Amino acid sequence: MRIVVSIKRYNPEKKPQAYTQEFSLDVKPTDRVLDVLVSIKENQDSSLTFRKSCAHGVCGSDAMIINGQERLACKTLVKDVAQVDNDRIEVEPLRSMPIQRDLAVDQGVFFDNYRKIDPFLRPKEKPPKEEYRQSQKEREQFEDPTKCILCSACYSSCPVIEAGEKKFVGPAASAQAARFAFDTRDVGIAGRLEELDTPDGVAACDNHFNCTKVCPRGIKITKNINTLKKSIKKHKES
Ligand code: SF4
Ligand code: FES
Repeated sequence: MRIVVSIKRYNPEKKPQAYTQEFSLDVKPTDRVLDVLVSIKENQDSSLTFRKSCAHGVCGSDAMIINGQERLACKTLVKDVAQVDNDRIEVEPLRSMPIQRDLAVDQGVFFDNYRKIDPFLRPKEKPPKEEYRQSQKEREQFEDPTKCILCSACYSSCPVIEAGEKKFVGPAASAQAARFAFDTRDVGIAGRLEELDTPDGVAACDNHFNCTKVCPRGIKITKNINTLKKSIKKHKES
């Protein structure tokens, strides 16, 4: 089938404003949007810039907006976003992060916010000689957010971040805050209140659920945030 791919382009060295460029090409419905972008770069315009690495939904490099929604280009098939000949696929860079060039954004602000929640285990006791023991149930409490691949799709989709009125750390950072706060090996909520109980922390989430809808790993981000909010409240009342 033949499709038209409309790509938002930006190269500050050549043109101060972003613009849209269209490419027409033959593809298979089972091609991935990443394959389409690679084909455009190899055969039509070698200056087209985007990030990719694993091409299998693992590294989180190629999150972008495809037909208005944050997706991984390597996990989106042409048939998911175009059905008949001459259908258009619109591709744009993620929101709320500065564009470096074309579809590549500077994720610095995403990672700066991520670091604010101390995204590593802070052991509550001296590590044992062998391994930490945890029951299956204890492990399940924080399983969901461990699947994060740091793609920033949730950050881009968040209306609280886009509005810019609150300095929210963002959905991925909040979900990781839950990941460590609910790990029985960690100091937990009591030892993390300084990072978690701030106006810019999980409290800033307004429950729009956009992050949960776009997360390519299916993480129940908003649910994790709400559970953490309740646990912080309970801890402060006890
Ligand atoms: S929580 Fe989901 S959408 Fe957000 S960075 Fe992690 S994998 Fe990407
Ligand atoms: S290229 Fe690694 S997730 Fe798509």
